Amino acid sequence: MNDEDDTPIRSPEDAVRDARVVLNAALTNEPPVDMRWIAEERRGSSTWAMAQDALEFVGRLMFHLNPRHVIEFGSGVSTCVIERATEHYTIDCRISVIENDPKYARLTASKTGKRVAVQLAPLVARSRQGHVLPSYEIRRGRLASTLPADFLLIDGPPAALGGREGILYQALEFARAGSIVLLDDATREPEVQALERWGADLHDAIQIDLLPGFEKGLASTIVRKPASGRERVALNERRASTMQRSR
Ligand SMILES: C[S@@+](CC[C@H](N)C(=O)[O-])C[C@H]1O[C@@H](n2cnc3c(N)ncnc32)[C@H](O)[C@@H]1O
Repeated sequence: MNDEDDTPIRSPEDAVRDARVVLNAALTNEPPVDMRWIAEERRGSSTWAMAQDALEFVGRLMFHLNPRHVIEFGSGVSTCVIERATEHYTIDCRISVIENDPKYARLTASKTGKRVAVQLAPLVARSRQGHVLPSYEIRRGRLASTLPADFLLIDGPPAALGGREGILYQALEFARAGSIVLLDDATREPEVQALERWGADLHDAIQIDLLPGFEKGLASTIVRKPASGRERVALNERRASTMQRSR
């Protein structure tokens, strides 16, 4: 397990600034990401999978971010890209996959290795900021790591099952200050609406940007205040006082 939290203690402002640097680096097309293997994986799921440019961006983001824990909502080819990046760039990272559909949970589990924990999570209706929205019923104990996620990818649930608006609220429960959340299909009407509501509801807890030039639209959210912020602050304070005592 890679569950020991040895991330340096930083202010939310520093963490957000670091995340911005990482996003900008990933937008530069460096390093090139080898996608020759992907044609076979995309067969049969091309309209459901993320577009090639977004998948390449995910690969580059993995390189620049060097995450310890990734959580993906909605699995498929993107899971393979994330897993391959950990191998290719030798990243000590665990990947938690949240999938509502038994068929795709099985398929993703069959294609991935030990560092990936695929969790079949039913969709449930939960109240978020005054709206009742779909959420995944997640069992924390079955995530691949107990660390907060450095990178979260929202590409589910499908619109036919209520869409993705509820999922950022949920993502914030597993994030830290400086976590990067990507939303695929960000220029489609339901996602445009979700982005507007997130911005209006969450104000300075997040920074949202529509990333330039992606075929299906891709939005980044940098987390400033995770939902578990109070616990994280308490943990940091405990760690800081332990470090002082041991000096
Ligand atoms: C947009 S897809 C996720 C795609 C994934 N991120 C990728 O890049 O391959 C969202 C959800 O749709 C479902 N799904 C995926 N492929 C499907 C297909 N061919 N037909 C029906 N549902 C599908 C799965 O439950 C998945 O979590």
